[in-house]
Amino acid sequence: MQDVISLGVGEPDFVTPWRIREAAIYAIERGYTTYTSNAGLLELRELVSAHLEALYGVAYDPNEEIVITVGVSEGLDLTLRTLLNPGDEVIYAEPCYVSYAPGIAFAGGVGVPVITRGEDGFRLDPEAVHAAITDRTKAILLCYPGNPTGATQNREDLQRIVDLACRYDLFLISDEIYDRLTYRGEHTCVASLNGARERTILLNGFSKSYAMTGWRVAYVCAPAPVIEGLLKIHQYAMLCAPHVAQLAAIEALRNAESDVKEMVHEYDRRRRFFVGGLNAIGLTCPDPAGAFYAFPSIAATGLSSEEFAERLLYDERVAVVPGTAFGPSGEGHVRCSYAASVDQLEEALRRMERFVKRLKEGMRSAPGKHTTEATRV
Ligand SMILES: Cc1ncc(COP(=O)(O)O)c(C=O)c1O
Repeated sequence: MQDVISLGVGEPDFVTPWRIREAAIYAIERGYTTYTSNAGLLELRELVSAHLEALYGVAYDPNEEIVITVGVSEGLDLTLRTLLNPGDEVIYAEPCYVSYAPGIAFAGGVGVPVITRGEDGFRLDPEAVHAAITDRTKAILLCYPGNPTGATQNREDLQRIVDLACRYDLFLISDEIYDRLTYRGEHTCVASLNGARERTILLNGFSKSYAMTGWRVAYVCAPAPVIEGLLKIHQYAMLCAPHVAQLAAIEALRNAESDVKEMVHEYDRRRRFFVGGLNAIGLTCPDPAGAFYAFPSIAATGLSSEEFAERLLYDERVAVVPGTAFGPSGEGHVRCSYAASVDQLEEALRRMERFVKRLKEGMRSAPGKHTTEATRV
């Protein structure tokens, strides 16, 4: 299909900053093409530790509490496989990143979604988390800023969730891959909250903040006994993260702060433009405070999220992701990534406006015709 504007893919449209690519080219020239230690290059682990301490005041021992992984994807898989026994429950906010429910199931666990809603800005209510805790609960999985909603969670609510974890002796798995892409307020690192560090598995990486999705490099920070468990799986399943990618990550942490700031500034500009535009054309969208996603309601169109995404693609050639890809509670929404140029976003909004207008006119001339089962509930 030609002339499609894709707002579908969850990755930066920036190429990795030149200084990072150049460091990787130089690493190849010098022949750094071997395995590294299973936990990853010590220099990188030391830099990760210093980075987290400088940003959030949480320190991790590079020798015992950090492992470099092949993306947060691997870090999440290792964490779930290390922590869960068959039947253990993991609580998470839904709509959520597509890998959470399958990842928990692969590890023999049972996912327990707690539904969040657009009307509340997709806030995870600590009371609802409390109500979901049972004798089988092993962990609470958090992701702020979140995919697909772009929601962040305030420090007080996060502390209340940490307090629950302490009270019921649960692990906290915190996927903070979008931490640097926070546009309103400051990011709260879960491990920095009172009582959290000893029970938190912190997942983060280079894919989003440094535009390095294809390099496959990330890290897990956790207390030493947990890292020991993760390493047992990692050393046999993966051996180590790619050597050149680890050297590129060293360059990212050492010298790419100005690149990160520039990209974040640009995402914020696009966010304001695009979210304002969605609301103006009648697709109500709570202001996403982080990541690079808008998750507007499409309820006003009378279509299910699958129908909306499919028809928008065929009628107007704009690709978005149906909200149901992020769990059943994503019905009535679509995810639009604004990691695209302002020109593309402008044209996408023009096409979406035309599409929504036609749907609404159709609804007026044939009331009830477009109302599907999915949107009635
Ligand atoms: C919330 C979240 N976690 C993890 C990942 C995967 O990250 P990585 O590229 O580090 O494997 C993504 C990718 O979209 C994501 O949105």
